[in-house]
Amino acid sequence: MTSSAHPKRQEWRDAAIAAADTAARFITHEAMSHRTLAWEEKSATDFVSRVDVGAEERIRDMLAARIPGIRIVGEELSADARPDEGLVAIVDPLDGTTNFLHGFPNYGVSICIALDGAPQAGIVHDVARGGVLHATAGDGAFLDSRRLRVSTTVTPARALIGTGIPFKDVSQADLYLRQLRRLMPIISGVRRAGSAALDLSDVARGRFDGFWELFLNPWDLAAGVLLVREAGGRVTDLEGRHAPLTGGPIVASNGILHDWFLAMLNEGEGTTAASAPDPT
Ligand code: IPD
Ligand code: CA
Ligand code: CA
Repeated sequence: MTSSAHPKRQEWRDAAIAAADTAARFITHEAMSHRTLAWEEKSATDFVSRVDVGAEERIRDMLAARIPGIRIVGEELSADARPDEGLVAIVDPLDGTTNFLHGFPNYGVSICIALDGAPQAGIVHDVARGGVLHATAGDGAFLDSRRLRVSTTVTPARALIGTGIPFKDVSQADLYLRQLRRLMPIISGVRRAGSAALDLSDVARGRFDGFWELFLNPWDLAAGVLLVREAGGRVTDLEGRHAPLTGGPIVASNGILHDWFLAMLNEGEGTTAASAPDPT
């Protein structure tokens, strides 16, 4: 057990798995009628539907019943709550909303239970493809009952890298495109699958050798970061510092490629490469 691991972490993981399972059933049922769903605009290119909200209500209610005193930091219902104080569940009820709304099968549920900023249990339920990835601090990461390990890729030319393209903050586009231009000719491939939680899960299970995105919110990253670390990988910000639960830029890898990956992302950029927009 690591020094930051809490004895109740497995109980918390099980509660998160049960809550995500309930949300996943609801999402799967609603996916059958995704074409008739009303889209609500969060910003010009960012949408939400009653499915996101309904999933979060189910998760909130189940966690509150099973973990007395827990606070919920949820994307749709309590986004302003602090993710790094006390006992919290950091919840993305539907990560990959755009995929879901288009019937593109890559979306999931992400829940992290954290205590004073330290993730204790993280789960990502891969709703469209199936499977529950889970981790508890110090105990490893698993897909259902199978232990997960990051890839062993050592050669950048063989690396498959996941990414998220900036779509809300266009001021990041130039930096992002320069990073992409540097990486593209020297790696095996880049994938933009549309769910950061699943992208991080794909690093944890060794499908991706790395992943980066210039800004993620706490609910996008919290569970996935624990999965990657518990599977033996590394997750930092763009300057190689510990990635906090409060959100920001994220660089994840199998660990072996991390220093090379950071060097490529930052080459010729100076320290501003690590700046991120205010999450509010
Ligand atoms: C989004 C997805 C996407 C990432 C965005 C997130 P949402 O979450 O994770 O892959 O690029 O930054 O906002 O809106 O589908 O929950
Ligand atoms: Ca998300
Ligand atoms: Ca979401």
